[in-house]
Parts: sequence; C-alpha cells; structure tokens
Amino acid sequence: MVARKPIIPEHGSLVTSPLDKPTYVTSPALPPLSEFIEYLEVIWKNKQVTNQGPFHRQFEEELAKYLGVQYISLFTNGTLALVTALQALRITGEVITTPFSFVATTHSLWWNNIKPVFVDIEPDTFNLDPKRVEAAITPRTTALLPVHVYGNPCDVDALQEICDTYGLKLIYDAAHTFGVKFNETSLVDFGDLSILSFHGTKVFNTFEGGAIISHDPSTKKRIDFLKNFGFAGETAVVAPGINAKMNEFQAALGLLQLKYIDENIAKRKAIAKKYREGLKNVRGIRFMDDMPDVKHNYAYFPILVDEEIYGKTRDELYGELKRNNIYGRRYFYPLISSFPTYRGLESANPTNLAVASRAAEQVLCLPIFPTMVHEVQERVLDVCANRDSAS
Ligand SMILES: Cc1ncc(COP(=O)(O)O)c(C=O)c1O
Repeated sequence: MVARKPIIPEHGSLVTSPLDKPTYVTSPALPPLSEFIEYLEVIWKNKQVTNQGPFHRQFEEELAKYLGVQYISLFTNGTLALVTALQALRITGEVITTPFSFVATTHSLWWNNIKPVFVDIEPDTFNLDPKRVEAAITPRTTALLPVHVYGNPCDVDALQEICDTYGLKLIYDAAHTFGVKFNETSLVDFGDLSILSFHGTKVFNTFEGGAIISHDPSTKKRIDFLKNFGFAGETAVVAPGINAKMNEFQAALGLLQLKYIDENIAKRKAIAKKYREGLKNVRGIRFMDDMPDVKHNYAYFPILVDEEIYGKTRDELYGELKRNNIYGRRYFYPLISSFPTYRGLESANPTNLAVASRAAEQVLCLPIFPTMVHEVQERVLDVCANRDSAS
C-alpha cells in the first residue's frame, strides 16, 4: 500500500491578509518544527514510543519543577485524568459540581457511576459558589469537583473549609489553569488532587495530554498503577486500571513547550490588555479583570453581552463576528445540566442555577492566542464596538 501525502489546504496559497482566513477562538502554540524533529530523532533511535520512556520521565520531572509541585502523573488527556482521579480516591455516591464547565467534568462522574449534584456559580468568577454548597450536601456526598473556570481561582479557602468540616474530598478540574499562581502558590497545589489538560486548545499543549497533581508518594503510586492497567510489576495487577498513559511523542513535545510557555503567556497577557483597553467604553459589554494575588495565564478572554444595554444579543454579536471570519466560542453554553444525560436530575433544574443560566446566555470568548496578529484583534474590536471597518 502506498502512503498518502498530507493534504495542504488549497486556500493557503490564496490568502493575502490574515483577515481572509478564519480566526478561531484559539490556535495551538507549537514550537519550531526543526526543534521537535530533534526529539523525534531520539525516539526513532531509542525505539521507545510509550510506557514511561525517557521523555516521559524527564517531562514529569521538569513539569513538576516548572509548576512548583512535588507529585505529578502524566496522562494521555485531561478527561482520563479526571476519571482516574475519582478512582484513585475511591469516590462514590454523590459529588457536588458546577454546570458551567466543559462536559468532560460531569462525564467523568458519570463514567464512575457517581451522581452529579449541580450547584450554582458565583457571579464574578463563574466558579462554584461555596455559599451554596452546604445546602446540597447529603449523607451520600463524598466529594466536591469544582472547576477553576478560565483559569480564575475558585474560593479555595472556603471550599477547603467545607470539605474539612464535612469530611469530603476536594478534586479540582484545573484544566484551564496551567501556570496560574494564587498567593505565590501554584493553583494546582490546592485540594486533594488537581487535574490539568494539555489539549491543543489549552495554554500549554502536548497535542493532547493531561496530568494529575497529588500530594504524597503513595497517592502518586496508586495513580500511576491505575493509568497503566493496574500493573504494579511485570505480572502483578493490583487494581482494575485503565490505559491512560502519556506517550513519548506527547512527552517530548511537552518538554520542548516548557521552553516557550512564559513567552506565550506574556503574549496572551498583551492581547488581553489590548482587549480591555478597546472594550472598556463599549456599553453593554463586560469583561473580567485580573484578580488580586493571582498570576493569570490569560487562557480565555470571555466577555458578557447585556442585550438591554448593548442593543444586540450575544448570539447576534457571535454571528457578526462569524461574518467577519472570526469564530468566538460560547464557553460555556449550553450548561452541562441541560444536556439529555443530566437534565432529569433534580439539581439540574434551571431555577436552581440562575447565575449559571444567565452567564451561559451572555458569555462569548473572543480569540486569544500567542500568534494572533494586531489586524485581526482590531477587527474583533471593531465588530464588538460596531465600528465601520467591520463588514
Ligand atoms: C474544564 C475542562 N475539563 C476537562 C477537559 C477535558 O480535557 P481533555 O480535552 O484534555 O480531555 C477540558 C477541555 O478539554 C476542560 O475545558
């Protein structure tokens, strides 16, 4: 059989301006290909493509150093990291979580036969509201699964206090938080476990990938068994594990990406600053400011469109951006609680989730990524501000 050549999109040669081609909400940050090829050459020589190879070991070490954490386990994606984290802590029964997230958060509970209990979010951060959590605790509750939405920290102290009082585990879906610090501490160091995603859409990517951050060697050991079918040795299987290992290609890319991550976050920060400048006088559009004591990663740039003041709905603005070749994303709309799998749950009733329901109707994430060019950002701002150059 003859191997096929990769297909290069034809429109590539016709593009004359960055505005002629679509701009999506993000574009994966990739290092120079020539540098990655050097890593591939090592893999070709070693002939070790997976199963805790040398790049896996090195990336785990370097990543722990970069994030300032002690114990980290690499995964093939963030979803399997979430599923495995729940297994690692033997979570059962009911888990309190947020409806304002990517579906994988709740799906990880479903795959573990755990009942999700949705609780509303805070109006400022869109994170799980600790003030509403206690009322949702029952004798079957075993854990909380909050999300640091857009990389903005949850109220970690209040959530920890609830977990300490009621004897619950605290697992953070920290998929958006790569590099975020709160009071000089890595945000992934809070709770019992935190989960990262290195998907192509994230601030830091290994094409696909993920990790669990734990706090002691025996928990890390159990997680590492679980992600490798439960193998504890050549012939010993100590748990019904799964295959969720990160391969050598992902780990090699991760190592290389660490070299560029600070530069990429700095570029994102500059874009966020420009958005804030450009939108501050647009009536009816709100955006989130930096939070005190937080080092942000500028993973997303969400805006909130107030139809009454702005004069147009969020969806009308979304459509206008599309007509200008700009594809924002309505993260997170619809709410997870409204999908068929979950909408029958008592906690999924929209009257229980008023803040989340309103946020889902108003939110739009504008494009933000390190290689975004000035011309495109100006066009986004023109469309948002109803200025003439927009089509
Ligand atoms: C909040 C959240 N949790 C979990 C995931 C799942 O991660 P992955 O795509 O790496 O499986 C994502 C995104 O993809 C996410 O945004």
